[in-house]
Amino acid sequence: MIGENISVELQKAREYEKREAGKIEKDSRPKFHLTPMTGWCNDPNGFCFYKGQYHLFYQYHPYDSFWGPMHWGHAVSNDLVNWEYLCCAIAPDMPYDNKGCFSGSSIELKDGRHLLMYTGVHEEVQSDGSIRDIQEQCIAVGDGVNYTKYEQNPVIRACDLPEGCSKFDFRDPKIFSYEDGTYGAVIVSCDSKSDGRVLLYKSDDGFNWKFDHIIDVNNSRFGKIWECPDFFTLDGKDVLMISPCDMKAFNLEYHNGHGTVFMTGKNSPSGFKIESDRSLDYGLDFYAPATIAGPDGKRILVGWMGNWATCRNHDSKQKYFGQMTIPRELKIKDGDLYQMPVKEIDSRRKNLHRYTNIVFEDIKVLDGVKGRFVDLDVCFDFEEQIKGRIKEQKNAGAVCGLKIACGNGCYSTLCWRPDERTFEIDRSHDGSRIDQLSARKCYLGDEQKSKIVLRIIIDLNCVEVFINGGKQVMSFCIDSAADADGIEFFSRGSVTLSVEKYELA
Ligand code: FRU
Repeated sequence: MIGENISVELQKAREYEKREAGKIEKDSRPKFHLTPMTGWCNDPNGFCFYKGQYHLFYQYHPYDSFWGPMHWGHAVSNDLVNWEYLCCAIAPDMPYDNKGCFSGSSIELKDGRHLLMYTGVHEEVQSDGSIRDIQEQCIAVGDGVNYTKYEQNPVIRACDLPEGCSKFDFRDPKIFSYEDGTYGAVIVSCDSKSDGRVLLYKSDDGFNWKFDHIIDVNNSRFGKIWECPDFFTLDGKDVLMISPCDMKAFNLEYHNGHGTVFMTGKNSPSGFKIESDRSLDYGLDFYAPATIAGPDGKRILVGWMGNWATCRNHDSKQKYFGQMTIPRELKIKDGDLYQMPVKEIDSRRKNLHRYTNIVFEDIKVLDGVKGRFVDLDVCFDFEEQIKGRIKEQKNAGAVCGLKIACGNGCYSTLCWRPDERTFEIDRSHDGSRIDQLSARKCYLGDEQKSKIVLRIIIDLNCVEVFINGGKQVMSFCIDSAADADGIEFFSRGSVTLSVEKYELA
């Protein structure tokens, strides 16, 4: 029977989270960004539409707001917007995963059971006598609430690695089904020089797996080791998504450290032939995204709205830490990736304040345009101002944008510089006392535009900015207290501004 023998570790986690979650005030959480029930979360795991509901699991350490032995937290939603917590799904309670149940994915089996595939971490004595953590792939099967670990775990072992691949970095299986009813799983590993690769395994039944081939090898292009692969087709393109570690900055496309890469190309039995690559998100807090095909076939992505460089900077007294992005729908148009919040969030838009074609320069505050739970459509247009100017001078010197979460001396800035063709987010003045990277820019493309369209979602401390229909996205978290809720617009040079502001409720 599924979940019949609940381990001591899982029982303890379930009791603990139930008790502690009740101590976290609802107001201290964002409304639409899923946070851990209590304690710490990182990567989204096991994202799936199962038995009429979306299931989203997450890397979870219930006992602390810092990373620790990984469990899987669990939440469900009917609409991708409101999430309801379910009890902790799996705990590190077996010899093969007692150092952690790392990231993975899930799928519905033909018999209706829900299969979770995750990385089990455990210690192993090496030939030189040293003890090191190794990573192997495991399975748990359940009914959407309770899960039983498979008695023949791990199902993909270190000995199933192709030659030269490391068992110390062998993780994050992303399972999917082929049209003929068989299954595939992409899993990352690396060579002895920590150069990442994506391996494909295949299975007829989801339980017995065989190595098939290496889909892609890093060859030092994108950082060192890779994490959290995803592999799917979207609008006629094959897509390989990875989260590399130790990247080197490249113009404004990639920044140092942990990043995310969205590659399009053509897959064949000899491997993935890349045609283009780009960042999935140009903000400060985004990593390890995962996608699913929703019931209507739409490709939906959720990412961890956090990052490994700053995730140890918070107060240890905090009852929870970490959140997921709002689910986004992905599309490829004219060869380019676009991401927008799922349309389900639209039904949460209340109390419209609309301002159309306001011409201003310097600073503008608009009645009713404020708040920490808001969805804003903003358009800055210099078209009128540049009439008659020659092309090169189009928006010469213009800078415009908005300050959000203003109050008590705090604010965060979103700023467009048409000359530079850049957009910048800056949280240097969000009230944080920590010396950490606080600003980042993205490049908007070679063509100089006289107009920019923004969709900005502010959900307490979570900010997601969708630029020009979602061609670029910048996600970041801010520190300021909830009563810092002012919004003001600024422009150097006269500009035409249109705003639609909704409360999110
Ligand atoms: C990515 C990651 C994964 C791993 C998990 C551990 O953020 O490092 O590779 O499975 O987090 O929590």
